[in-house]
Amino acid sequence: MLRVTGVSKSFGGIAALDSVRLDVPRGHITGIIGPNGSGKTTLLNVIGGLLRPNAGAIALEDADITGLPVHDRARRGLTRTFQISRELGALTVLENLLVARLQQTGESIWKAFARLGTVQREEKEAIARAGAILERVGLWKLADDPARALSGGQKKLLELCRALMLDPKIILLDEPAAGVSPPMRAEIAEVIRSLRSEGVTFVIVEHDMEMVAGLCDQVYVFAAGTNLTSGSFQEVVSDRRVVEAYLGGVL
Ligand SMILES: Nc1ncnc2c1ncn2[C@@H]1O[C@H](COP(=O)(O)OP(=O)(O)OP(=O)(O)O)[C@@H](O)[C@H]1O
Ligand SMILES: [Mg+2]
Repeated sequence: MLRVTGVSKSFGGIAALDSVRLDVPRGHITGIIGPNGSGKTTLLNVIGGLLRPNAGAIALEDADITGLPVHDRARRGLTRTFQISRELGALTVLENLLVARLQQTGESIWKAFARLGTVQREEKEAIARAGAILERVGLWKLADDPARALSGGQKKLLELCRALMLDPKIILLDEPAAGVSPPMRAEIAEVIRSLRSEGVTFVIVEHDMEMVAGLCDQVYVFAAGTNLTSGSFQEVVSDRRVVEAYLGGVL
């Protein structure tokens, strides 16, 4: 479904990614783990189109998307979640979903914000869709609350809901469990699992090993901007090199 080959990215001479590869099968949850600073977020940014790689290629369903802007990737079904910013925090939960849909066309948050009134009158269908998504994840009762009033875990769910407004085939998640209470982690994992069962593909960067173990069909391990190994969760955690990378041993 998604294939990353030989991707390198440096920041001012420092290599954050050095010729990395990633093969993401359709309908699977692929996990990316690795110590802090190993390049995981940089890779998601390169896949999502926020960063241009210095070398290498990204293919989505066999089409080269390496140079495409973010909204063109979204149109092809590739999307990533973004933290709810201060501006979005002022909007209601429902409005956050409606704005996500507008932003999909490449509109800035402010333009989308200005158009929100019109949309609420005109796009009944968008509202129905947003309602169904919020209902599904248990946020419908909070639809009219400002997003900033949500808990850390509810904000993560809202980020996912915003991505779902774009009708994605593949979703990139950066640390969906970070700063989230254990019961909410389980809830988020359940939503991800149920979306997978409907055919949505995921790439998840996560430090919480319980979540990785419970969700991921395959796991890639990164160390110092390179591929260390990949396989099932059990395979990679029993690899001595992985333990050493985390302990800051040989790498
Ligand atoms: N915009 C940037 N400018 C300069 N250096 C950067 C930038 N983004 C990342 N880096 C550097 O690239 C390397 C990889 O960072 P990255 O954020 O991808 O790591 P990570 O694996 O996501 O870490 P963490 O687990 O802490 O989130 C780090 O050395 C980091 O300091
Ligand atoms: Mg990161």
